[in-house]
Amino acid sequence: MSEEQAFAEVIDKDQRIEPRDWMPDGYRKTMIRQIAQHAHSEIIGMQPEGAWITRAPSLRRKAILLAKVQDEAGHGLYLYSAAETLGADRGDLTRRLIEGRQKYSSIFNYPTLTFADVGVIGWLVDGAAICNQVPLCRSSYGPYARAMIRICKEESFHQRQGYELLMTMMRGTEAQREMVRDAVDRWWWPSLMMFGPPDADSPNTAQSMAWKIKRHTNDELRQRFVDMTVPQAEALGVTLPDPDLRWNAEREHYDFGAIDWSELKRVISGDGPMNAERIARRRQADEDGAWVREAAAAHAAKRTEVRA
Ligand code: ACO
Repeated sequence: MSEEQAFAEVIDKDQRIEPRDWMPDGYRKTMIRQIAQHAHSEIIGMQPEGAWITRAPSLRRKAILLAKVQDEAGHGLYLYSAAETLGADRGDLTRRLIEGRQKYSSIFNYPTLTFADVGVIGWLVDGAAICNQVPLCRSSYGPYARAMIRICKEESFHQRQGYELLMTMMRGTEAQREMVRDAVDRWWWPSLMMFGPPDADSPNTAQSMAWKIKRHTNDELRQRFVDMTVPQAEALGVTLPDPDLRWNAEREHYDFGAIDWSELKRVISGDGPMNAERIARRRQADEDGAWVREAAAAHAAKRTEVRA
């Protein structure tokens, strides 16, 4: 059996491709692209909420938020490790991010204006992330699929903490309820954009579905997210900012209004409200950490010398 046939058979039988297996160059490239973008999103995603750690309203909220932001760092690290199994170099991936040659999720280019944003990010952004990532636990590349299992468990805790925070605020004062409504209004549409462009405009979906890297299209997952979220909004007592949102008994799904795709394009191309700040911060953190990396490398070299 040729290498190509062996690869096709693994995909066909729903088994996993492992790092030492032969794979088409395009598959390797796509996997590195998606895993790197995902890793970058986790790391950049620490910033919007991290900004609230010093201003959390209680010790309990601060401890929860700290744990959550640390989880995101852990997710980034698993994912960079998964990318390294494909031959990528983590330092190189970070450079590509900082130089704008690799993407990260559009959602992290919006500001967090009040503490309600922390709750709404947990509920909507992490909720969308779970919808997108649970099927990735069955992605065809073994190290990515396995990393995703742990990540999804932690994301599920993140989503619940966000929802619980919002429930608490909704039981609070009118000013707190107003903060929640305002945050939901600002984050709803960007959360729908997280799933990527509509299927008709998604250049990578067909090939990624054929290789079983992606298990559902962007629009399928977006619809699943809307269907899951509308009853949660009702239970919370907030109105989602879409007058066209209504149950369609024939389709057995919620219909929703038109998404402003020009906004997603703008944000992805670097012109969102916080893109410059997010990248500047990441660059600074990378520069600040350079001495640690140099010291670790010098230490490792010394130990190798001693052993030799
Ligand atoms: N933000 C930034 N870029 C995006 C987004 C988005 N929300 N959606 C799509 N894009 C980019 C794609 O990366 C692609 O660009 P590229 O070809 O230069 O890499 C382009 O827009 C076209 O999109 P698609 O053809 O639909 O791309 P793809 O098949 O990769 O699907 C998706 C995009 C759904 C995001 C997919 O890559 C994926 O599932 N990734 C893993 C999950 C992930 O990265 N989540 C990060 C946010 S969640 C979190 O960190 C909490």
